[in-house]
Amino acid sequence: MYSEKVMDHFTNPRNVGEIEEASGVGTVGNAKCGDIMRMYLDIDENHVIRDCKFKTFGCGAAVATSSMATELVKGKTVQEAMKVTNKAVLEALDGLPPVKVHCSLLAEEAIHAALWDYAQKNGLEIEGLEKPKSDIHEDEEEDEEY
Ligand code: FES
Repeated sequence: MYSEKVMDHFTNPRNVGEIEEASGVGTVGNAKCGDIMRMYLDIDENHVIRDCKFKTFGCGAAVATSSMATELVKGKTVQEAMKVTNKAVLEALDGLPPVKVHCSLLAEEAIHAALWDYAQKNGLEIEGLEKPKSDIHEDEEEDEEY
């Protein structure tokens, strides 16, 4: 039921972890299942994504899509990274079962939230990027302090 690529990225996810002093961080949650994903971007002075890492507290499909999404955005400019939609990630993974498609949305939302954070910190505007609806970064940070 899962493609070989999904199984590969699920059992051997790429780019798991954190980036200290990341250029942008985005944390999003899936209201349907309560799963959470955090994405870290390291972006150079030419707006190219040097590195990308993620942490997901979620299902296998969410892990596989975030893993593939990090691979797809690495080396891209922030503007090019806007084209890494959940559709693009799904295509790169050879699809997901229909009931799991909502899981793939987390990766796109997390990338957008991290790009938004980067844009805010640097006073930039990224074409087509809107304020993330579900960035839960701040709440989470507070939780972690206790
Ligand atoms: Fe929650 Fe897949 S079931 S992200």
